[in-house]
Amino acid sequence: MKIAFFDTKPYDKTSFDKYAEERGFKLKYFETKLNEDTVDLAKGYDGVCVFVNDTVNAAVIDRLHELGSKFVALRCAGFNNVDVKHAYGKLHILRVPAYSPYAVAEHTMALLLTSIRRIHKAYIRSKDFNFSLSGLTGFDLYGKTVGVIGTGRIGRVFIDICKGFGMTVLAYDRYPKTDDASVHYVSLDELFAKSDIISLHCPLTDETYHMIDEAALEKCKRGVVILNTSRGALVDAEALLNGIKSRKVGAACLDVYEEESDLFFEDNSGHIMEDDTLARLISMPNVIVTSHQAFLTEEALENIAQTTVDNILQLQQTGQCPNELCHQCGISEDCNDKKCF
Ligand code: NAI
Repeated sequence: MKIAFFDTKPYDKTSFDKYAEERGFKLKYFETKLNEDTVDLAKGYDGVCVFVNDTVNAAVIDRLHELGSKFVALRCAGFNNVDVKHAYGKLHILRVPAYSPYAVAEHTMALLLTSIRRIHKAYIRSKDFNFSLSGLTGFDLYGKTVGVIGTGRIGRVFIDICKGFGMTVLAYDRYPKTDDASVHYVSLDELFAKSDIISLHCPLTDETYHMIDEAALEKCKRGVVILNTSRGALVDAEALLNGIKSRKVGAACLDVYEEESDLFFEDNSGHIMEDDTLARLISMPNVIVTSHQAFLTEEALENIAQTTVDNILQLQQTGQCPNELCHQCGISEDCNDKKCF
């Protein structure tokens, strides 16, 4: 089994080498992302392994099919970068539905605490032996209301973390878990109106695209803190920037950004930043941006590598895989909303 591995980073090799070798797979690591220009690198391979910012659109799928690829193994949970419908009958699309919800939920809380306790400012100051406290006043999380949008694996863990801080948790989910009495579901409008902090943990779909836009921010409390560790396009970045400028938004913590694909995961420090919205957001004292790193823990990387390799092995041995999207039935077993396709 020969697999072309796209958008490789050094930390991928460490975890994947171990599992691939155990299963007798040959991985060819390419640093480039998969897209229409690079797809021919997959010639001679049984399938490809991709990440969040690789492009698996109709053209790429058709070319992979022509080249004899049999599968696309996503080493991530989200699959908004894959035209799953178009792949039907041509390629098997495998994914890793869960690897560590704790990694993402904990990173979300780390961002929140960093932001509201001004740790990012204090860190830089103390490095310069500036021990002044002026401008570092934060606020307690205890007693505050957090609105969690999306109560799946990650959202649910984040809810428990927030409860540990003594926060009131309001939740909204398109498909609420009616058997979980510990989650207090409200309408989206009520969540917007009552939350001091809003955290996004739902997938990117046509329905959730720009769910935090000007109209949504209008409904929020003045000073609301927006947390997005899910997918960039859930937030209209221009509207967020305007909300920051008008002081409607008190702070924003973003691990994802709609236009991240050409920027995140790479060292751009020697380049001119072309994206004015991102540059302006990063320049704000109350905005923290991390580059899609919420998943990046040792435990998550191990789980990702193991599940990805096992997915491929299962497909090879049985022709089926429980973590396959839209094969035969057109419905992923893990798909909560049952109508992504
Ligand atoms: P999950 O599938 O377990 O949960 C998603 C939840 O969102 C489900 O409860 C679902 O019913 C709900 N949902 C679906 N449509 C909705 C809508 N229109 N409005 C509100 N809720 C809706 O997914 P999981 O594992 O919790 O991941 C959540 C998201 O986190 C993923 O979609 C992915 O985009 C993102 N993610 C980000 C990572 C990072 O490194 N920053 C790493 C892993 C995932």
